[in-house]
Amino acid sequence: MNSPSPFTETALAARTAAFEDLAAAGPVQRVTLFTGVPVWLVTGYAEVRQVLTDPDVRKSLTESPHRDHVPEWLLKAMNTHMLAVNPPHHTRLRKLVSAAFTRRRVEGLAPRIDEISRTLLDALPAGAPVDLVASYSYPLPITVISELLGVPVNLRDDFRRYTQIALSGPVHTPEKYVTAASDMVALIRSLIERKRAAPTDDLLSGLIEVHDGGDTLSEDELTSMVFLLVAAGHETTVNLITTATYTLLKFPDQLAKLRADLTLVPRAVEEVLRYDGPAMVTVPAQTAGDVHVGGTTIPAGQIVVPVVWTANHDPARFEGATDFDITRADTSHLGFGHGIHHCLGAPLARLEAQVALGHLVTRFPALRLADPDNDPERSVSLLLNGMSQLMVRID
Ligand code: HEM
Repeated sequence: MNSPSPFTETALAARTAAFEDLAAAGPVQRVTLFTGVPVWLVTGYAEVRQVLTDPDVRKSLTESPHRDHVPEWLLKAMNTHMLAVNPPHHTRLRKLVSAAFTRRRVEGLAPRIDEISRTLLDALPAGAPVDLVASYSYPLPITVISELLGVPVNLRDDFRRYTQIALSGPVHTPEKYVTAASDMVALIRSLIERKRAAPTDDLLSGLIEVHDGGDTLSEDELTSMVFLLVAAGHETTVNLITTATYTLLKFPDQLAKLRADLTLVPRAVEEVLRYDGPAMVTVPAQTAGDVHVGGTTIPAGQIVVPVVWTANHDPARFEGATDFDITRADTSHLGFGHGIHHCLGAPLARLEAQVALGHLVTRFPALRLADPDNDPERSVSLLLNGMSQLMVRID
């Protein structure tokens, strides 16, 4: 890819400009990523939806970062989860956990999410700048997913540290990546052993015991599943809560609208998912045959990267695509992906973000950016759009 790349830009304006350049070059393009890997980027809304439902575009993590440095056993332990595989394995793995994430089941978590949110806000210090990520956006989703799975409190920060390195992959040296991935796998395996010895009433204990019509999970599938649920279950939501707050503070007219009518909170969350959502791309896939898309033929055996960000800003799909509008009626963004791998945790992520945002804006009428003249830095990542810190004032 020509420099600059949206995946390496850390300033929002530069990242946005790089994405716009990318989209202007056409809905399907062959490029070389900053990692040196040649891929086909699909950027148009219609084209992204098409490839995400094409059975010839199959998930493949064979081009994982630092592939040559990762031992086979570690690759299997990390990458045997549902987001790395295709039907029929995908169908079986997703079915094992889907009941825990239905809208109805998730609604049952609302009182607890509400309680966690209020407790965190009670503890925010007035009179000084506060990092919203460390004190609110991060602890809320990591607590929720950890309680759901049964991850003890003292292991949560370790999980986050490893997750961040594993998800940002190529940014780190191969040694750092492999060490973090191995430590993560060791941590998950020791947790599984502990649960095996003393099962509790949580998702992980359920998975360990699982016999889904005679179906069982292999050790690698189980390890991978825990990694996926912890990783996908918090880092993305941390980013959503953070960018939602940031974007609303950048558009005071929209924030005022929200405060005047709190029934707009769910729509505001959807608009943030479209306008500045946590997923920049979906996980790469590989073509199993010729794929005709956007006037181009992608031959078999090629890596395809659907770009969610440009699809969500496609003027052919969204009127006023570059505007941030929390009253937008069209919420058909691709922020949670599309097709069979559509985000399993979408109902949970939506609920967490709605509760988090609703409390934050009502509780602190004077909420503002601590340093409004300097935009916070975005994290460098191939997958996720987020910031590691957001300094605000609440008083
Ligand atoms: C899949 C985004 C929160 C679990 C996905 C995909 C996207 C996504 C774009 C599809 C990836 C692809 O096709 O390559 C998000 C965003 C979130 C979020 C933006 C927060 C705002 C969550 C949460 C969980 C979760 C809270 C809870 C466990 C999953 C799982 C998959 C997935 C398990 C794989 C589904 C499959 O392969 O069938 N997510 N996610 N996500 N997400 Fe989320």
